[in-house]
Amino acid sequence: MPKKLIVANWKMNPETLAGALSIAKGSREAEKAAKNVSLVMCPPALFVGDLLREFAKGPKKGRASFGLQNLFWEKSGSYTGEVSPAMAKSLGLDYVILGHSERRALGETDELIEKKVAAALKSGITVVLCVGEKERDEHGEYLHVIEEQLKKTIPVLPKPKLGSLVIAYEPLWAIGAGARSAATPEEVFSITIFIRKVLTGILGKDAAMKMEILYGGSVDAANAVPMIVQGGVQGLLVGRVSLNAKAFGEILKTVGSIK
Ligand code: PGA
Repeated sequence: MPKKLIVANWKMNPETLAGALSIAKGSREAEKAAKNVSLVMCPPALFVGDLLREFAKGPKKGRASFGLQNLFWEKSGSYTGEVSPAMAKSLGLDYVILGHSERRALGETDELIEKKVAAALKSGITVVLCVGEKERDEHGEYLHVIEEQLKKTIPVLPKPKLGSLVIAYEPLWAIGAGARSAATPEEVFSITIFIRKVLTGILGKDAAMKMEILYGGSVDAANAVPMIVQGGVQGLLVGRVSLNAKAFGEILKTVGSIK
């Protein structure tokens, strides 16, 4: 059985390095105890170096896996405040979350996201590309929103590179402290079918069927398993709960118990 991918999006938390080390320690222990679960922690970029030194020692296989929450598209140069895929790769980072709705809300457009996705994939970093509608409407316009996001942000690249692309479905109304609620597993299931249909149009059936799709938005220990089993996703993108190592450990444990 393929491992379930759990991506922890810490966002701009916690406030201290000591806090980050403590969350990573608890999460890593829970990952080790869970079967068939692969954890990627995405802390603020500033903490990544210390976390890698502490938790990602030794041979690549069996190491803790870390990712970033954003990356720029150039390798180096006069881009004040940015971090490049080459830098991430040089530290041994495996993943990056791109196109998150909170970054889109700060002005990141589909065009910028597409450039970032292309650069990260070319550097050999797995991209977790977030898509999702702001709200649902009875005419199904929200499906059009998701379709456009996929069409505009998946770059034209050779198939092997696109093999390290993962799609995360994150409806905005289900994300963060102000969320209405998590999506239901039924809603997630129908969206995964829709996403695969759109991906088939972009990448062909083979690549579309192989692509991992995650769900994110108010994931907790109670809804994690139904999201995967009935929602038909291959993993989860977890925000708030990933900051509480104990509660997050529960998610890893329940997901690890899926037969
Ligand atoms: P949440 O956030 O789990 O706190 O709803 C998910 C996300 O924004 O990735």
